[in-house]
Amino acid sequence: MMFNSVKKEILKEIKEKGDISFRRYMDLCLYHPKYGYYTRIKKLGREGDFFTSAHLGSILGKVIARVALEYFDNGTPHIVELGAGEGLLAKDVLDFFARENMEIYSKTTFHIVERNESIYREIDRNLKEHSLKFVLYKDLEDLPEIEKAFVFSNEFFDAFPVHIVSKKKGMLVELFVSYKDGTYVKRYKIPSKEVLKEIEELNIEVCENCEFEINSDIEKIYKLLSGRFTSFKMVTIDYGYGQEELYNPDRNRGTLMGYYKHRAYENVFQYEGEMDITSHVNFDALIHYGKKFGVESVYFKNQRQFLLDNGLFEVLKEGEELSLKDSFQLKTLLLPDSMGDVFKVLVQQK
Ligand SMILES: C[S@@+](CC[C@H](N)C(=O)[O-])C[C@H]1O[C@@H](n2cnc3c(N)ncnc32)[C@H](O)[C@@H]1O
Repeated sequence: MMFNSVKKEILKEIKEKGDISFRRYMDLCLYHPKYGYYTRIKKLGREGDFFTSAHLGSILGKVIARVALEYFDNGTPHIVELGAGEGLLAKDVLDFFARENMEIYSKTTFHIVERNESIYREIDRNLKEHSLKFVLYKDLEDLPEIEKAFVFSNEFFDAFPVHIVSKKKGMLVELFVSYKDGTYVKRYKIPSKEVLKEIEELNIEVCENCEFEINSDIEKIYKLLSGRFTSFKMVTIDYGYGQEELYNPDRNRGTLMGYYKHRAYENVFQYEGEMDITSHVNFDALIHYGKKFGVESVYFKNQRQFLLDNGLFEVLKEGEELSLKDSFQLKTLLLPDSMGDVFKVLVQQK
């Protein structure tokens, strides 16, 4: 049987090293340096496997820009976007700055952190009018030291590879992946030290036969941001819950999902490297690790409320007609049970 390249790499690693953790499986599927989903993808959106609020129109970007502009009433603005994808929100933010305050715009530097180099051409294309205003970094580690920064992200934390934990006969276990007779086999084993540390530090309760995802990368992100920036405001937009709701026995199969050509799949052991795999964010983990590094959480509400609380109606200028795209986005962000409900916004400050 012919396998695609990521699957070949996964099977090679299992053969050489034995069973791999689910986190490693997901990491290879999404971020294998050559064949990973996010390493190859050149464009998200309707032609891709999923789209985000950024693809729907410019309103979300304008509201983020308004919050950022307020933060920089004086000084030199440094904006940092984590996991910027094609740079659509970056464009909306910079367009807004240029239109509302040319003096501030001229002093602004926009720092884009995006791991996927295949998408840089699309970033350059979307930001061609702002080509002198932005700097691209592949890694968070590459960010410079900054006195005062406005940091934001949309669907960044949900794109991290996660561990899967469960409890079997009262014993805490972690999911490992093996391969036998032509199929993947799930193996539950003693959890890795990263998992045990997260469970203890975040006080996570795992119920019998539940499967919960744990992102063990959050602490190092806050440590890094807090080390680089003397002061900052951080707006995180993503789907997820507080811990009690996320790790609730009613949600006992967790939140892991695969997206392939705009269809959702519970089985993520297929379309390796061609399917996006994501899970909901544990916002309590962001709050906890923020606090650990001196970053206070000051606001946590759904996206609809965030837009209303932060000048949605002011950015929709009186007398200015909405484009068809923006009116569709408005509907998607404001109607009950829409993206505006599902997505949460956490604002933190140091
Ligand atoms: C779900 S996409 C969201 C893209 C964009 N923010 C939007 O709203 O359309 C997640 C993005 O985060 C990027 N990413 C994931 N992990 C990253 C990391 N550690 N550093 C920088 N970028 C990362 C991925 O390459 C991808 O472009």
